[in-house]
Amino acid sequence: MTSETSKPEPKRLFIKTYGCQMNVYDSERMRDVLRPLGYQPVDTADNADLVVLNTCHIREKATEKVYSELGQIKKMKQASGGKMTIAVAGCVAQAEGAEIMRRQPAVDLVLGPQAYHKLPEMVARASRAAGERLETEFETLEKFDALPKTREADGPTAFLSVQEGCDKFCTFCVVPYTRGAELSRPVDDIVMEARNLAAQGVREVTLLGQNVNAWHGAAPKLEGGSEWGLSQLSRHIAKIGGIDRIRYSTSHPRDMDADLIAAHGDTPEMMPFMHLPVQSGSDRILKAMNRGHTAEHYLDIMRQLKEAQPDIALASDFIVGFPGESDQDFEDTMNLVREVGYAIAYSFKYSPRPGTPAADMFGHVPDEVATERLHRLQALLWEQQRAFNASKVGQTIKVLVTGKGREAGQMHGRSPWQQAVHFDAPEHVMGDIVDVKVVGATQNALAGEFAAVAEVA
Ligand code: 5AD
Ligand code: SF4
Repeated sequence: MTSETSKPEPKRLFIKTYGCQMNVYDSERMRDVLRPLGYQPVDTADNADLVVLNTCHIREKATEKVYSELGQIKKMKQASGGKMTIAVAGCVAQAEGAEIMRRQPAVDLVLGPQAYHKLPEMVARASRAAGERLETEFETLEKFDALPKTREADGPTAFLSVQEGCDKFCTFCVVPYTRGAELSRPVDDIVMEARNLAAQGVREVTLLGQNVNAWHGAAPKLEGGSEWGLSQLSRHIAKIGGIDRIRYSTSHPRDMDADLIAAHGDTPEMMPFMHLPVQSGSDRILKAMNRGHTAEHYLDIMRQLKEAQPDIALASDFIVGFPGESDQDFEDTMNLVREVGYAIAYSFKYSPRPGTPAADMFGHVPDEVATERLHRLQALLWEQQRAFNASKVGQTIKVLVTGKGREAGQMHGRSPWQQAVHFDAPEHVMGDIVDVKVVGATQNALAGEFAAVAEVA
C-alpha cells in the first residue's frame, strides 16, 4: 500500500454566519470539511473562490437581507469573471429552496441546516460541472481507489478498462474526490482492445470500472446506434471469436438493471459471478453512508440474479464500525449475510478518511467493538466461503488453465466461479478450457483431477 499527498494551491473560502450558535458551529464544520479540498478561510468575500452565506430565518426580514447581500456578492462574482462559487446554507436555504436560485441565478449551491457534510460533495460536483478538476489533499490509498491498468496480454485472462470515476459519494469514500466523475469508454475503443486481446490468445476478459455497471455508450452504427448499457456491451464482446468468458467488476446496486441480470441467463459467456458490494445490512447505516439503496432492494437484486443464473456465486464488500453502528445494525448485516450466502466477500473496519462526510459524524464506534464485529463477520463469511467451495466437490467443472502449479506436473486455473483450481495435467493444456473433477476444497482453492480438454460451445 502506498500513500501520497499533494499540496495544491490554497483556495479562498469566505463564510458569513448569521444567527444562532448552531450556525456558528455549522460554519466551523464547513471550514473543516472543506480544508481537504484545499479551501483556506479568508476574512472578506472579494476574491474568494467560494462564498457561503450560512443563513438564519429567525428574525424578520432576514430573508430579504440575504437577497440584498447576494446582490453585492454577485457583483464580486462578475468582477472575478464568474470564477466565484456562491452557496447559501442554513435555515433560509431550507425555507426557500430552489426559489433562491430562481431569484438570484448567481447562486450555485443551496443546502439546508446541518447539511455541512454535503458541502464537499456539492463543491466537487459544481467544479466538475464547470469542467474543472479538483485538486485535493486526499491521500490516495491504493487499496480503495486504484483501478488496475489494462495489461498487455500475458496469459489467457486479461483486464479491460471500460469505465472510470464515481458519482455516488458514499460518505466514507474518497474515490469521488480523487477519481472524478463517472466516465465511460466508447464502445469502439473497448471492442478494438477486446479483439486485440483475443488475437493474443486471451479467452477471459474482466471488464473493469469503479462503477462498472454504470457504463453506457452509443452502440456501433451497424448495431443501430442506440444507447447501450453493460449488458449489451457484454453480449457484443461475447461474440468476438476466442472470447469464451466475460466478467466485470465492481458493480453498484443503484446501477443494476433488469437487462444486465437477464444477460446472466441468456449469455453463456457471462461467468456466474457477481461482485455487488452492499457495505451494511442496516437501512439506517446505508442511509448514513449515502448508498442510495436499502437492504431489501439489494436482496431483491440478489434473488433476481439467482433466478437468472441459478449457480451464480455472489460476492460483496462490507464495512463494520461505521459511525453510529449499533449492535442491532451489525446484527442486520449478519442476517443479510446469512440470507444471501456468499461465495466470497471482503470486509473492512471503518477507517475515517479526513474530508469525507463520515469522518465528521457522531457515534464513533470504539475500536474493540469494531474489531470484535469484524471477527464475527469474517468468521461467518469464511464459513460460507468454505461451504461454497466444498459444494463443488464431486462435480466435473470447466477450468481455464492459467499457469503451471507449484509442484512438478501440476497446473492451475480458474473455475467459472472464480475459484483457484489445482490439478495434475500436461503443460500443453495451458490456455485451454478443460474438464476437471473436483476432489477437494479448502477455503481458498479447489483440488481436482484433470479429465479432458473441454468442448466450448
Ligand atoms: N473505511 C473502510 N473501508 C472502506 N472502503 C472504502 N472506503 C473505506 C473506509 N473509509 C471499502 C468499501 C469498498 C472497498 C473497496 O473498500 O467496502 O467497497
Ligand atoms: Fe466509493 Fe461508493 Fe463510489 Fe464505491 S460507489 S467508489 S464506495 S463512493
